[in-house]
Amino acid sequence: MPDAGNHGVLVIGAGSIGARHARNLRTIGVKHIAICDPDAERRISIAQEMSCDDYATIEQAFKDDRITVAAVCSPTKFHVSQAIAAAAQGKHLFIEKPLSHTADGLDDLQRIVKENHLTCMIGCNMRFHFGPATVKRLLEEGKIGTPTYAEVYTGSYLPDWRPKTDYRRSYSADPAQGGAILDCIHEIDLALWYLGEAKLTECSLRQADSLGIPVEGTADLKLHHASGASSNVHLSFMEKEYKRYCIIKGTEGTLSWDIHKKTVEVQDTSGQVQESVPEPAGYDINQMYIDELQHFLACIASGVVPMGNLTEGVRVLSIALQARKNINH
Ligand SMILES: NC(=O)c1ccc[n+]([C@@H]2O[C@H](COP(=O)([O-])OP(=O)(O)OC[C@H]3O[C@@H](n4cnc5c(N)ncnc54)[C@H](O)[C@@H]3O)[C@@H](O)[C@H]2O)c1
Repeated sequence: MPDAGNHGVLVIGAGSIGARHARNLRTIGVKHIAICDPDAERRISIAQEMSCDDYATIEQAFKDDRITVAAVCSPTKFHVSQAIAAAAQGKHLFIEKPLSHTADGLDDLQRIVKENHLTCMIGCNMRFHFGPATVKRLLEEGKIGTPTYAEVYTGSYLPDWRPKTDYRRSYSADPAQGGAILDCIHEIDLALWYLGEAKLTECSLRQADSLGIPVEGTADLKLHHASGASSNVHLSFMEKEYKRYCIIKGTEGTLSWDIHKKTVEVQDTSGQVQESVPEPAGYDINQMYIDELQHFLACIASGVVPMGNLTEGVRVLSIALQARKNINH
């Protein structure tokens, strides 16, 4: 592990995920952290907890040349413009998912990142979760032969996400940047990670009318992967029962993971369990966020392209934007 203390990280957006990353950065040894948020109460509260500097704007923050990294954790519609501003100052980028809500500015962002030799990673934390990470490892070990089909599912209930706040006023409910496709984009990322690049062939949507918000609450995407495999990706924040799982069929068996069963299973073609990998006892969900930050900082140090890099992020977003086309606008 590189010395995380060498980095100065500006956390842009001190909301739920920004605060989590700020705390985790401290846990992994980043000494210089600063917080930027236009909401004075929020930024001061986190800055006091972290004993760190706080700024109302990124322009003020970038005057501090100890800052080498920007962690973009603001509402989605600000991600790309803030990432471009930070990259133009030579800052490495950790950008929360989804990368953006439109394709605007993505070419500029890619160009500046390349020209300035920056490391850029999208917050694809589910890749670092025990379940999906184990699925990916077993796929790469060839446990089910060649993958032919995947079902990647997430169903949850938006009003339960942030019980202390009114979800109808959150970015999730904003037609410009909300909806289940962008909010639940992790599962699109996982489908591409498991089975490779893909094209969207079909998408059906259900509006979140029952939640009283003008966005899609459920989306079912069909993907055709360049490998010849296909996948169904189900994204919903209208389901009171939380479900998250994947099933991947291959020429020699089936791999499955379920967040509640806490086990990854390999079955042969006749359905016999060949291998069962249990989640480590006491597994803490925050570990995946720590692991993704450690991976990101290690990639800056080594120059290795991170998992969930900008090229992958653009591919994932492109599928999400196609799925959103003609809705919410
Ligand atoms: N990877 C994950 O697990 C995960 C989890 C939650 C959120 N997210 C993503 O992170 C982003 C933020 O989500 P959240 O749940 O923390 O939201 P939040 O509403 O809790 O916090 C957003 C914060 O950004 C601040 N803000 C508003 N405008 C800003 C600006 N121009 N510059 C800087 N800060 C600004 C707000 O004052 C607020 O403090 C979203 O894009 C969301 O999709 C990712």
